[in-house]
Amino acid sequence: MNIGIIGAGNVGTGIAKHLKARDHQVMLSFSKDANKLKATSDSFGVRSGSPAEAAAFGDVVALTTPWNATAEALRQVGKPGQNKILWDCTNALKPDMSGLQLGTTTSGGEEVAKLAPWARVVKAIPPFAEVLHSSSTVVGGSHPGVFVCGDDPEARAVICRLVRDIGGEPVNAGPLQLARYAEPAAMLLVQLAYMQGFGARIGLTLSRDAAAEGV
Ligand SMILES: NC(=O)c1ccc[n+]([C@@H]2O[C@H](COP(=O)([O-])OP(=O)(O)OC[C@H]3O[C@@H](n4cnc5c(N)ncnc54)[C@H](OP(=O)(O)O)[C@@H]3O)[C@@H](O)[C@H]2O)c1
Repeated sequence: MNIGIIGAGNVGTGIAKHLKARDHQVMLSFSKDANKLKATSDSFGVRSGSPAEAAAFGDVVALTTPWNATAEALRQVGKPGQNKILWDCTNALKPDMSGLQLGTTTSGGEEVAKLAPWARVVKAIPPFAEVLHSSSTVVGGSHPGVFVCGDDPEARAVICRLVRDIGGEPVNAGPLQLARYAEPAAMLLVQLAYMQGFGARIGLTLSRDAAAEGV
């Protein structure tokens, strides 16, 4: 597939690396420094462009921006049309990582959907960038679980496949509203990793009987 990535930082390049290795075509975008964006993209062997170009390029558009830059990034994307899939990888973190800027009565995913009415939004927060950029995405014997929330079942299925491609274990959770609960779970991991000394090689897994698998 063609994947346009909005945000060329730790997560954007981490998913670019894995998606390129699985033979997807990737374009990175969005930086305050065009030269840095080009150099980063070249170093990962992927295309670079503006957010609008990346969104036009992608069958799937991955959003990997700091929360406070997300509205600006989507403004620069414009209206690519075609009912594209927008893979929201963001955490609506406060800049000091002390908490979430919103939650439980809405979610970052739902707010992104309001800003991108052209898209079928799927929320799926990837494993930590440290894991994505390491030599193995297996953490404690399994791939980190990624809750996949979106209102369009076809779009969710596509993102489940891409989550697997980046080394995560997708949980095809259900509607976008469930991001209200998946996002705080990701916040718990942030707190454990960076505030409580667990480090970033951690992840969540969903235990379940075989009969429930594939739901
Ligand atoms: N890091 C993780 O392990 C992790 C895991 C899961 C989810 N997330 C979430 O994923 C998102 C990205 O995290 P990250 O760690 O990849 O962030 P990051 O390394 O700081 O990368 C952010 C990217 O956005 C660009 N950017 C930021 N502000 C901009 C602006 N005003 N104008 C243009 N470009 C701008 C940066 O460009 P410049 O180079 O010019 O700054 C960079 O390309 C966040 O929402 C985060 O919470 C992170």
